[in-house]
Amino acid sequence: MSLPPRRGVVLAGGLGTRLYPATLAVSKQLLPVYDKPMIYYPLTTLMLGGLREILVISTPADVPRFQQLLGSGEQWGLRLTYAVQPEPRGIAQALLLAERFLEGRACTLILGDNLFYGYDLAGRLHTAHARREGATIFAYRVSEPGRYGVVGFGAAGQVTSLEEKPARPVSDYAVTGLYAYGPEVVDMARELRPSARGELEITDLNRCYLERGQLTVERLGRGFAWLDAGTHDSLLEAASFVQTLERRQGLKLACPEEVAWQQGWLDREGVLACARRLGPGPYAEYLRRIVQGADRDGQP
Ligand code: DAU
Repeated sequence: MSLPPRRGVVLAGGLGTRLYPATLAVSKQLLPVYDKPMIYYPLTTLMLGGLREILVISTPADVPRFQQLLGSGEQWGLRLTYAVQPEPRGIAQALLLAERFLEGRACTLILGDNLFYGYDLAGRLHTAHARREGATIFAYRVSEPGRYGVVGFGAAGQVTSLEEKPARPVSDYAVTGLYAYGPEVVDMARELRPSARGELEITDLNRCYLERGQLTVERLGRGFAWLDAGTHDSLLEAASFVQTLERRQGLKLACPEEVAWQQGWLDREGVLACARRLGPGPYAEYLRRIVQGADRDGQP
């Protein structure tokens, strides 16, 4: 029997204090990463994973701004819903805030400042999404693991520990901000208690899954890029990365119109309608160009 489709959640709140004063008047996840707002990157990651019903969570001040930017999502063949996180009480709180939206569905949560890029990302997501229960998280080798959640592995490659920002990391593998959960996740999140810093920690939730034997850790190898954009340097590095690839290939990363078109959620007229709304700039020009290129060469 086929299950109702999994839903997506983008957590795009927080104060962005590490980017002050750039984020005093605007959400971090609305800042541009090269040529488009930051939230386009996690949003298109969920779209590549086949998700069309997505909840965007942000601060009381920023939710209206995300609504202004993204609207109902209909222009991209999506159904977007919004929820307010009154105060940043932890990443796992997103799952409690999403309870009504989820209606008991499985869900994939992504942080609004995380950028994923790599061969067959969609395939990796589909594999995770095919699991009906339990949690799947993605680990990625980094040079400074102590800045992240860290996964420990045993001799046979099995997961032995999960720790949030450990002083002495037991491996170089960070937990990325992309988490696929079964329908049980809201009940599991309800059991969490705030940590010493007063937050419902996503690492505590994932550790509960580990203790139950229901955690799958997928490694994203060196062929992938995983970037976050929470500091001035990481924001600039992410922008440079996107610029380098886009200028070399003449193709955009994280273009929701293009992803929706590839997924068959928009037809060529739908893409052109998005281009018309954006007017004459280079982004709209790109949308016109990919449609014309496909008329000539076949869809990419
Ligand atoms: O980026 C991956 C890392 O994200 C993981 O390795 C860590 O395990 C996880 O705790 C998290 O670490 P961060 O230090 O990046 O967490 P931060 O508090 O900065 O929150 C990440 C994003 O989520 C940030 O863009 C703001 C948003 N956020 C955070 C909290 C705590 C919210 O929207 N609401 C919140 O309550």
